[in-house]
Amino acid sequence: MGLIDCLLVFLIACLALKSSFVLGSDPSPLQDFCVAIDESNHEAVYVNGKFCKNPKNVTADDFYLSGFDVPSNASNPFRSNTTLGTVDQIPGLNTLGISVFRADLKPKGIIPLHGHPRGSEIVIVMEGCLYVGFVTSDPNNQLMAKHLKPGDVFVFPPGLVHFLYNDGDTDAVVYAAANSQNPDITTARVFRNVPVEVLSKSFNAERKVIEEIIKGISIPLIRDLCVAINDLKDAVLVNGKLCKDPSLVTTNDFFLPGFDKPGNTSNAFGSGMTPATIDQIPGRNGQGISLVRIDFAPKGVLPMSYRGEGSQILLVMEGTLYVGFVTSDPANRLISKVLHKGDVYALPQGFPYVIYNVNHTCNAVAIVAINNQSPYFFSIKAIFGSEPTIAVEFLAKSFKLDEKEIEVALKQWKMDE
Ligand SMILES: *[C@@H]1O[C@H](CO)[C@@H](O)[C@H](O)[C@H]1NC(C)=O
Ligand SMILES: *[C@@H]1O[C@H](CO)[C@@H](O)[C@H](O)[C@H]1NC(C)=O
Ligand SMILES: *[C@@H]1O[C@H](CO)[C@@H](O)[C@H](O)[C@H]1NC(C)=O
Ligand SMILES: *[C@@H]1O[C@H](CO)[C@@H](O)[C@H](O)[C@H]1NC(C)=O
Ligand SMILES: *[C@@H]1O[C@H](CO)[C@@H](O)[C@H](O)[C@H]1NC(C)=O
Repeated sequence: MGLIDCLLVFLIACLALKSSFVLGSDPSPLQDFCVAIDESNHEAVYVNGKFCKNPKNVTADDFYLSGFDVPSNASNPFRSNTTLGTVDQIPGLNTLGISVFRADLKPKGIIPLHGHPRGSEIVIVMEGCLYVGFVTSDPNNQLMAKHLKPGDVFVFPPGLVHFLYNDGDTDAVVYAAANSQNPDITTARVFRNVPVEVLSKSFNAERKVIEEIIKGISIPLIRDLCVAINDLKDAVLVNGKLCKDPSLVTTNDFFLPGFDKPGNTSNAFGSGMTPATIDQIPGRNGQGISLVRIDFAPKGVLPMSYRGEGSQILLVMEGTLYVGFVTSDPANRLISKVLHKGDVYALPQGFPYVIYNVNHTCNAVAIVAINNQSPYFFSIKAIFGSEPTIAVEFLAKSFKLDEKEIEVALKQWKMDE
């Protein structure tokens, strides 16, 4: 089979799969968590068609994976390899709709054209130089490609065929997150069990048939790309959102540089956040995924926070971090762990969580992926720093504290601003 045919077959496969999973990402979980368990035993409960570990038996290790700082062995024909952090490696990711990957590419190494039928993907380059791109669906088949360097962030829309190629002279490392617990992958390999004769007869000779098939799988172009826009002049309305006219969309709508720069930690908490949400990358609109870089000074803390929508997956880049979340009433279990460089930890949607740099001398850095394009965020400041202030009497009753103690807390939060 010739190269062109191979690509064509592969594209058809992607389009076919894409059209059968139109929703893209995973549905939201309907309970606190459902830690996947292999078989039904007396400790398992059956929720939403899945066996879940009895919540009482769930531990921090169900949300944890180590070794993301270690390169994988890329001595293979593609000169690339991928380390997975999906529900298969982190059972706590079940129903959370997020996963994380590390890819290593030697010089001239490639992660060949592939698509993820169920997930948008966001990548951040840690080391080396990469040429990355994706192709929009028919009829335009526009190539959106870009040369990336360390600290650059790029997003691949769900289901669209994309590639990563190391065009530099040194090894490249990227981290990626997808808004599915297991985004699956579609490559030309989906046809590997089909006899070549059948494939060549089906696709090679009858070019017209192929064109018919592609035409038959009508995918509205606009669904590919809904790049958010503020100026109404060039906008179209898709799924209730204003989008940039697809013909005006460029690669830079999917790109954000500078994620290698530390955030400012000169504040009362000793932590600083650098977001890559829809506000920074308009092409993220409709893609349901974001990244945040959090820098910690020694003993710095991300105070108790809460994400209204969106599960998170955290990857420690540097240092040692204590990370914990509290489950809902009435159990209110603290599920926490001390994490080191290369460790991964999942934070289920909607639980208050805290991140603390336990080291007294060294900085720490974490990258957090969130399966929401503009995840809103509350911290304790929402309670004590609100404008106007919540009545001292209500706060005192809510926290079962003295009104004097509340007044001290309020003063403290106002001072920190
Ligand atoms: C699960 O927790 C129960 C008590 O809540 C305990 O008796 C049981 O041994 C635990 N099972 C496992 C596999 O840890
Ligand atoms: C990827 O790397 C892992 C760990 O280094 C290795 O076990 C595996 O064989 C590699 N896979 C490929 C396809 O090279
Ligand atoms: C990497 O994989 C190649 C091919 O499988 C093997 O020959 C080599 O020993 C491996 N290297 C390491 C460091 O494991
Ligand atoms: C960091 O933030 C502090 C407090 O807001 C400010 O004074 C300082 O100039 C900032 N530093 C940088 C490098 O932006
Ligand atoms: C902080 O990190 C340094 C370097 O890794 C280590 O030597 C030191 O023991 C750590 N200190 C604490 C309190 O964890």
